[in-house]
This record gives sequence, structure tokens and C-alpha cells, in this order.
Amino acid sequence: MERIEIKEKLKKAIQIWKSKKYKIGFVPTMGVLHEGHKELVRRSLLENDKTVCSIFVNPLQFNKKEDLDNYPNTLENDLELLRNVGCHIVFTPESDVFYDGVKINKYDFGVLGEVMEAQFRPGHFEGVATVVKELFLVVTPDNAYFGEKDFQQLAIIKWLVKLEKLLIQVVVCKTVRAESGLALSSRNLRLSEEGQLTASGVYDALIFCLNNTSIFDPQTLVEMAIAKLEQRFEVEYFEIVDEDSFERIEKWEESKYPRAFVVVHLEGVRLIDNMSLNP
Ligand code: PAF
Repeated sequence: MERIEIKEKLKKAIQIWKSKKYKIGFVPTMGVLHEGHKELVRRSLLENDKTVCSIFVNPLQFNKKEDLDNYPNTLENDLELLRNVGCHIVFTPESDVFYDGVKINKYDFGVLGEVMEAQFRPGHFEGVATVVKELFLVVTPDNAYFGEKDFQQLAIIKWLVKLEKLLIQVVVCKTVRAESGLALSSRNLRLSEEGQLTASGVYDALIFCLNNTSIFDPQTLVEMAIAKLEQRFEVEYFEIVDEDSFERIEKWEESKYPRAFVVVHLEGVRLIDNMSLNP
């Protein structure tokens, strides 16, 4: 695996691949890699001739400075994991060099930019869209791989690809979960052992909704899920919305694709998850 830190050098390597008509897969990350990221890279390796992974802790998407300051650095482990899985190039740019000359756009994401993550993390999606667009312009992949765990981010990226008319296929990958159901996340490392067990309650609340759609209407389920979660967590939000429009659902007939979204806090760690409520 080759490690590249400079955009121009990466562009040259990509040009050589393109001249050989290689199909290129891309997995953007902020490091602290785990089995979920590994799955994205494996899928990219299966579906493309070459795979690029980026590790870049994007300062623009942190709405709280202390989160950026406390963001863990596990670069050596990350490089080892990528080498072992078979990634071809890892791109690890420095922040000031990466953004040198990059125009920071203002986006109007519509409803997507008003609800849930957008409401609780102002500016977050502006930062995500800015970094992902720049990474896409440098890597110019055929396929880019993202996990469903950050479902609203995924919707923002699909929206961005359409807006910018980029010829990139956004490939959606299922959330990878621990045996307990807990969605894998770099943040889980910050939980105590007991916290990791408690955290599976987030999954339990989602499954509870999935199993009870024929009995309760969406907003009653939301109230019940919040009541369950509040016994163990500080709940930031729990919503059932249509997964295309992101509009809140009052009655099941209003949506073909209802999805539950949740964020809770435990031991100072923000846990995010979601689940399709289609039977
Ligand atoms: O999901 C992430 O890790 C980040 O938001 C992403 C897509 C790499 C952009 O920095």
C-alpha cells in the first residue's frame, strides 16, 4: 500500500490507473478505523480494480472545538488495518495544505439541512459536503462507499453528487454491528466496558419500534422509545421520518420507507443509529 499526502501526487497516481481503464473505489474516513470501515474497503476491493482510502480529520465538520481537539489519533493502527485488508493507496493530507485554495461553498440542503443532525450540529453538513466534494474532485472514483449508520450524511452526499453532477456511484453499505446489536463506531472506544453493554439499549429501542409498527402509530412509538431510552441515556432526539423526504411521519400510510433515527449520550459519548422500519 502506498501512502500519499499531497493531492497532486495522488492525482498523478489516479491518472495512471485511469489510462489503464481501471475502475476506482473510494472509502473516505476520519481514521480510528474499525470492522465497519474494513467492510467498506473489502466491498470496494471486490467491486473495483483499485481502492483508495482517505484518512483526514476534517476540522470544518466539527461544530464543537473540544470534539476536534479530543478526536483520537490511531494512525499507525489504521495504516496497519488498511495494509492488511489490501487497500492500494491511503491518502493522508495535512489540513492546511488540503484546504489551501479550496472554495468553501454555502449549501441549501432543504429539509435535510434542517432536521436531526443538521438541527443539533449546526454547520456539520456544510463541512461534510465541502470535504467530500474536494475529496471526490481529487480521487474521481467510479464508486464511493459509505455506511448506513450515518444515514442523513449519506443522503447529503447523494444530494451533493446530484447537485455537482459528479459521475460517481454512491454505494450504500449496511451498518456493521457488534453481537449485542451496538452499531460499530470509533466513539464506542470511549465507553467503559459497562457503557458498551448499556449502549446496546439503543439497538433494542430501534428493534422495539420495528417489532411494533403494526400495533402503534409512529408518534406513539417515538414516545415509547424515548421513555425506554431515558432510563439509561440522555436522549438528544428520536424521530421516525420518511427516509427519502426526511419529513416526520404521523401515520404509517404517509410513507413507503419509514426509518427511525436516534441520538443519545452515555458517559459523555454521543451515540447515533437508525433503522428501516419496513417489515
Ligand atoms: O463519516 C465520516 O467519517 C466523515 O464524515 C467523512 C465522510 C469521511 C467526511 O469527513
